[in-house]
Amino acid sequence: MTRQRLVVLASGTGSLFNALVQAQDSLGADVVALVVDAPVPAMDIAQAAGISVHVVPMTTDRNVWDSQMRATLDALDPDLVISAGFMRVIGAQVLEAFEGRIINTHPALLPLFPGAHAVRDALAAGVKVTGASVHFVDAGVDTGPVISQSVISVVPGDDENSLHERIKTAERSMIVDVVRDVVAGKVRYDDGKVVTL
Ligand code: GRF
Repeated sequence: MTRQRLVVLASGTGSLFNALVQAQDSLGADVVALVVDAPVPAMDIAQAAGISVHVVPMTTDRNVWDSQMRATLDALDPDLVISAGFMRVIGAQVLEAFEGRIINTHPALLPLFPGAHAVRDALAAGVKVTGASVHFVDAGVDTGPVISQSVISVVPGDDENSLHERIKTAERSMIVDVVRDVVAGKVRYDDGKVVTL
């Protein structure tokens, strides 16, 4: 049986991307490409692992960027796209082709604290627990059906960085577990809902 093809989208250090790269043997799938929206440190991880890198910079016209992302992903022929620290909202053209095959990891317990500053917002709200969510991507911002969540306690003295690093530790194991289940067919997307077999 041919191994499934994974494409990861990232915009930062790429520690979640690296977790998937390191877990490939246990996933029964191959990370075939990294797609980024600008030159970012995650590219160094890809190059060290011999994984192709595709830079698709955001343009002034978001529709142009969306079509470039669609073309890039079409050419890579992924079975699953994993947004792991990708700071762009997936466009309609990409969703048209890949909805149901794109998952995202978010550093909060959705639907709480969606958007680009989830950890900062959770701290500002004074919550005692927060965490991370992995969900299928839909047309909204961090609104797709949730597949898995991890709960992380906020501890006295936490700042955005210390809390985010603890959340990322949970994300790195959760994203690998979710990808393994999706690859194995144990979790799938059906008409806007998560179906667990
Ligand atoms: C993760 O917390 C992800 O949820 C958020 O950005 C972080 C990416 O971390 N969107 P890294 O770049 O993979 O280390």
